Amino acid sequence: MTAYGSFPGARPRRLRVTPAMRRMVAETRLHPADLILPAFVREGISEPVPISAMPGVVQHTRDTLRKAAVVAREAGVAGIMLFGVPEDAKKDAAGTAGTDPDGILQVAIRDVKAEVGDELVIMSDLCLDEYTDHGHCGVLDAEGRVDNDATLERYAEMAQVQADAGVHVVGASGMMDGQVGVIRDALDQTGHEDVSILAYTAKYSSAFYGPFREAVGSSLKGDRKTYQQDPANLRESMRELALDLEEGADMVMVKPAGPYLDVLAKVAESVDVPVAAYQISGEYAMVEAAAEKGWIDRDRAIAETLLGIKRAGADMILTYWATEVARGIGAGR
Ligand code: PBG
Repeated sequence: MTAYGSFPGARPRRLRVTPAMRRMVAETRLHPADLILPAFVREGISEPVPISAMPGVVQHTRDTLRKAAVVAREAGVAGIMLFGVPEDAKKDAAGTAGTDPDGILQVAIRDVKAEVGDELVIMSDLCLDEYTDHGHCGVLDAEGRVDNDATLERYAEMAQVQADAGVHVVGASGMMDGQVGVIRDALDQTGHEDVSILAYTAKYSSAFYGPFREAVGSSLKGDRKTYQQDPANLRESMRELALDLEEGADMVMVKPAGPYLDVLAKVAESVDVPVAAYQISGEYAMVEAAAEKGWIDRDRAIAETLLGIKRAGADMILTYWATEVARGIGAGR
């Protein structure tokens, strides 16, 4: 006893004394194999086009996409998620370019497959918004509403052409009811039993998709609130999760990541399939913009956001920083 009362017997600070000690007791670690790189490929361009709201991210040409895939693989990144951006003139109400075997996404899948084979997990976005002239994730009915079941038929065709092109995983991101079951049937009936489905289980209607709309040249007017989830809801995600698993999802995803870590934690503790989280365009843009202004330490902020997502329970993280972070880990940073 001292004049000031008792000194603490337990001192958590002892485990923080040196970098080596902190490294040893770290409960969460990032590994390059946790990371998946989302990448955009645009039809009909000869030079990559920068995306202004995502400094450092571009719309790739077919050629630079192949190179980016090689660099990602060399850094140890687990996979690449491909998004196709067709020429404006090819957008139409039904999103035809999304089911054209020679559409930009299908061509890009074949390119990447030819370049890296099975050494990267090749994933593709299975959604119509990149291809529709109205910008919605599905086809519209006579009243202009997104028609769930007519959209499912389009998704079934998309699944087949993407699988024919050689993709390993389709990312079902459109938030139509029943999409996972229909896509599974379409894959199985066309001899693609081994193609996996990554279900966007909890996909919220988020303001943070803003920069992505520029990235895919989306002409969306209005919003996606009749199909994407309300940010107010958590229980609803558990219902979506049960349905996706019942319909045959191989992996499930929560998106966005940062503002929905509670959803991620709850999903991760309830399932026995791999769980992914998508750190989306707006989450990327916020950090890059604040860093550009000198308001935050960019590298530390990036690491902290990713650690938080992993700590909350993600097995895999889609992040536009995937290659850079994987390289940094390889270099011991
Ligand atoms: C749908 C899709 C979107 C994103 C990925 N897949 C856009 C949306 O739902 O509005 C967003 C990804 C990001 O913001 O980084 N095709």
